Amino acid sequence: MSTPTSSQAADIISTDRDHVWHHLTPHSNFKDSDPLIIQRGVGMRVTDIKGKEYLDATSGGVWSVNVGYGRETIANAVRDQLIEMCYFANSAGSIPGAQFAEKLLQKMPEMNAGDGKGVRKGKVYYSNSGSEANEKVYKMVRQLAHINGDGSRHKIIFRDRDYHGSTIGALSSTGQIQRKEQYGPFAPGFSSFSHCCCYRCPFGKTYGSCNIECAKDLETAILREGPEQVGAVVLEPVTAGGGVIPPVAEYFPIIQEICKKYDVLLHIDEVVCGLGRTGKWFGYQHFDVRPDMVTMAKGLASGYAAISCTVTTDKVFQQFAAEDGGPMGYFRDISTFGGCTAGPAAGIANMQIIEEENLLDNVVQMGNHLNSRLLELKERYPVVGDVRGKGLFAGAELVVDRDSKQPVAETYAAKIVAHCMQAGVLIGRTNRSFHEFNNTLCLSPALIASRRDIDDIVDAIDNALAANPL
Ligand SMILES: Cc1ncc(COP(=O)(O)O)c(C=O)c1O
Repeated sequence: MSTPTSSQAADIISTDRDHVWHHLTPHSNFKDSDPLIIQRGVGMRVTDIKGKEYLDATSGGVWSVNVGYGRETIANAVRDQLIEMCYFANSAGSIPGAQFAEKLLQKMPEMNAGDGKGVRKGKVYYSNSGSEANEKVYKMVRQLAHINGDGSRHKIIFRDRDYHGSTIGALSSTGQIQRKEQYGPFAPGFSSFSHCCCYRCPFGKTYGSCNIECAKDLETAILREGPEQVGAVVLEPVTAGGGVIPPVAEYFPIIQEICKKYDVLLHIDEVVCGLGRTGKWFGYQHFDVRPDMVTMAKGLASGYAAISCTVTTDKVFQQFAAEDGGPMGYFRDISTFGGCTAGPAAGIANMQIIEEENLLDNVVQMGNHLNSRLLELKERYPVVGDVRGKGLFAGAELVVDRDSKQPVAETYAAKIVAHCMQAGVLIGRTNRSFHEFNNTLCLSPALIASRRDIDDIVDAIDNALAANPL
């Protein structure tokens, strides 16, 4: 489509303002400014309807467009598949559904225990959003409590600062107080334990002499809730919207040990980290851990189609497959659009791009460059209190004062983001998630980012910090 004339652009903007309710957006903003309407995207860049180009360091605002914009092979794969067979409910299978499930499981050997004869049997359950994929796990955990007992082993432990979605169950398992505010009452059976952000250690300790108390707090939570009532723990491999928080290397083995000790299932939410964001196919693969359930969405098809997956080990699946399970013993869940074939068709093409272009290697190299450029900013600007991340996923936490670590006001972080946007670079930030800690700038450029792109992104932040002294 060609660039619209200014009167066509004004028309679309006014139609949008009249009729579209944008997510995460106070609409009072649109009294004085126009909603951003993105018209086009190619590679790392998007262009708005007024013709302004932006370098996108957010992969589509919420960490989704992993392989970048304008990928014809994905669009063609989706088009061809939709003409051949667009949809049938997932009680039936589809060709791309079967093929994508196999390809995914090949990337997840930890989920996919072999029988020694080359047969691998992990299972993939399709749905269409990260929230929904997580809800499937919560339903599986609750049903397993009935299959294996009297239903009491239904509780799920989640971690402070993690996010698991917008539906009431997913929000009930989210550790972001402000994001949840005004949406209660929440579902019963969810309970939290400590976050793992070293910079703000919840135990007031320092890494090296902390005994990894944050991981051990899971055991405290299980004992508090009653081990005979706890079915699972859910964790992001790297906390994303809660401030980009990777755990230390010792963290996940401790979590795994505690899960084993109390026979609690380990559910890893890879909705953000999955499909390459951190430099491996899945974020958990950086750590010595074997999950029982893994959920994924966003980068699974890079936003070219709506698809999410709940992946389980065969051991989990088999408990729903017993011949003597009776009429209620199988998973009685429905996901209407889990049967749309656009998702797995896009997923296969997306995965092929990541492989053919060696994007995981690029993420490692460019992630190192991003990290070192952000550390340079930390040296030059006292307002940058902490820099953290993994791969092409980074956070810079802004503070008023390095000693007290007092967080900057959310309005200051918003000012830095707005300055970058004005300069043609889109970056993200923690956004109304916590009462105090909406002070982290978040970067998640597409996995195709070049050194030059990373430099342009960090230079924009550099200029914004220079122009906005505290
Ligand atoms: C870690 C994590 N899990 C789940 C979700 C929910 O995904 P969706 O918005 O597709 O429902 C998100 C969304 O940002 C997320 O960051």
